[in-house]
Amino acid sequence: MTHVFTIAIDGPAGAGKGTLARRLADHYRLNLLDTGLTYRAVAYALIQHALPLDNVSAAETAARQVDMAKLDRAVLSAHAVGEAASKVAVYPTVRRILVEKQRDFAKTPPGAVLDGRDIGTVVCPDADIKLYVTASTEVRARRRLAEIESIGGTADFAEILADIVRRDERDMGRADSPLKPATDAHLLDTSEMAIEAAFLAAMAVIDDVLAKRDKA
Ligand code: DC
Repeated sequence: MTHVFTIAIDGPAGAGKGTLARRLADHYRLNLLDTGLTYRAVAYALIQHALPLDNVSAAETAARQVDMAKLDRAVLSAHAVGEAASKVAVYPTVRRILVEKQRDFAKTPPGAVLDGRDIGTVVCPDADIKLYVTASTEVRARRRLAEIESIGGTADFAEILADIVRRDERDMGRADSPLKPATDAHLLDTSEMAIEAAFLAAMAVIDDVLAKRDKA
């Protein structure tokens, strides 16, 4: 049987896990899933229908309708959608529906890089590689500000920082599948690291696992 290879990447908003996941998926020729987009798609559907974010049964319906092949990053990447996604992500029934779709995606050969908050702990606890990517709140806020400014926008650093702290609290503090490193995750702190260095560090971890496996 062909082994389906899985790389699980978790971490808080703005730690650089999305870029890292894309680089790794390209390098190891694996499928790529940003699981945050699935929660964003649910939040976006509720916002579009002017429904409150605590309407759990509408959120469940939206979750069932999420089409993994049609997740539109351009539409879903808005800051307000991320904030709303973090709110619908607290509901266990919504999570269960999305987690099932994420697991199906992960099982598709040749395997995948998935990034999110609970990939190594809940979605793919048997992943071949687990990375927990983090950075200080200040560094993450600075990166977010630079990102906004690079596309001609303006934002207030203190507001961005407060947003990040609030989102961390919600994602780490929820009862179901809170953000935390899996016990067997490799920690990667990107506070003092450019994305290229983070990519090289992750590659070293992965190649080491692959080399040991080849020898076994
Ligand atoms: O990674 P992101 O910013 O696109 O995620 C948006 C929100 O979705 C995040 O604040 C919490 C939720 N989320 C989650 O609960 N579990 C995941 N695996 C991915 C995202």
